[in-house]
Amino acid sequence: MFKNKAYISIGSNIPPRRKFIDEATKRLRRDSNIALIKRSSIYETCPNGSNFDIRKRFLNGVVEIETSLGPSDLMSRLLGIERSLGRTDSKRCLDRAIDLDILLYNDDIVSNGDVVIPHPRMHERDFVILPLMEVSPDTVHPVIKKRIRDIYNAREMKVFTSPQAAYNHLFSEKISGKRIGFVPTMGYLHEGHASLLRRARRENDLVVLSIFVNPTQFSAGEDYKRYPRDLKRDARVARKEGVDVIFHPSASDMYKKDNSTRVDVEGLSENLCGRYRPGHFRGVATVVAKLLNVIPADVAYFGQKDAQQAFIIKRMIRDLNMAVKIKILPTVREKDGLAMSSRNRYLSAAERREAPVGYRSLILARKMIEKGEKRSEKVIRSMKDFVHRNSNAKIQYILIVDKDTLKDVKTVKGAVLIAIAFYFGGTRLIDNMIVN
Ligand code: PAJ
Repeated sequence: MFKNKAYISIGSNIPPRRKFIDEATKRLRRDSNIALIKRSSIYETCPNGSNFDIRKRFLNGVVEIETSLGPSDLMSRLLGIERSLGRTDSKRCLDRAIDLDILLYNDDIVSNGDVVIPHPRMHERDFVILPLMEVSPDTVHPVIKKRIRDIYNAREMKVFTSPQAAYNHLFSEKISGKRIGFVPTMGYLHEGHASLLRRARRENDLVVLSIFVNPTQFSAGEDYKRYPRDLKRDARVARKEGVDVIFHPSASDMYKKDNSTRVDVEGLSENLCGRYRPGHFRGVATVVAKLLNVIPADVAYFGQKDAQQAFIIKRMIRDLNMAVKIKILPTVREKDGLAMSSRNRYLSAAERREAPVGYRSLILARKMIEKGEKRSEKVIRSMKDFVHRNSNAKIQYILIVDKDTLKDVKTVKGAVLIAIAFYFGGTRLIDNMIVN
């Protein structure tokens, strides 16, 4: 809602402590420049410092907020709330009706007369760390984040266009014992791609990103020519995520004129998108096999956003005895639920507003199934009605298939994949959900 995210600690050690905390939370919520997103449980802790009265234990919690206020304005709002709840400003007085502190403000590192962010002692205080981890388990302290960025920036990022040169370099890295993580993409990177890169960075010594808009997976009339390309921007994202090597071949580097070998993963490629994009998965399997021959990866990362693609690649790896492990990571979404995709940029403002309808129809399906509906036909009909009622999207397909065989199921049983493909004008979007 507002563009800045902050974490505020709330504490009190004067009765009625809980009431003070609830009242401060209420006042934060009432502020029109603040949206309260989450509040942790309330923790009771012994006060720090020997001159505290042991009876005056603190209650502490942390709230996550979004705000339009800058750090200094936010701080003065917090001081205002403290005063209105009777907090006196004497430095020596260690009794606190209410104590509000900014712990984190985005990833900003601020130190001016009024505010120091991140809160300088937050890492020493269990009563801050525990509730903070509860509301935001993935938080990394901004000072550490900055240090990681500095380390990555100090490294050299190599860019290869020649498959042979990329292989020579990576093979020598591999035999020196490095574990290689690989993220294949068609570029125009967004948060979905970044999530794969981040995971690869955490789990490997060397991270390779490929950027290649693969002609063989587009059919005539599809958007191969106009697919968004911006290498400079992609390189910036790659650097930020700690990529070591970008592989960015040209179409002629990858496909010699008389190339004639293709990989077909039968059985999994015919249904869903395969029904409507003949030859698409043959192009995907072929290029991923080729990329994996150039990049001696230990692990390759794919998104569930393209679930059928990920399952096909997994099957190919198994069937061809390829020595790489495949990891499939969750779909990253915009705030309104729309799955991130390089193609979202084709949408007009009006289409963009309607685009989350696909995801919302999947949620509707999940709810119906959770409530006991087993007839696929009924679920699919409700999804179609929902999409038509709420948007101008043209549905290409909505299907419920077995998660392992990708064949249609009449009756929902075990794990199923519910998938939708729909058009806004010439823009084709897909989304899916696995329901058990
Ligand atoms: P591309 O569409 O660029 O996607 C690259 C990888 O990012 C795929 O594994 C895809 O599933 C994943 N991804 C895309 N959007 C995502 C999202 N919102 N959340 C999580 N992951 C997401 O898929 C391809 O390229 C190509 O077909 C490729 C595999 C590179 C072969 O050419």
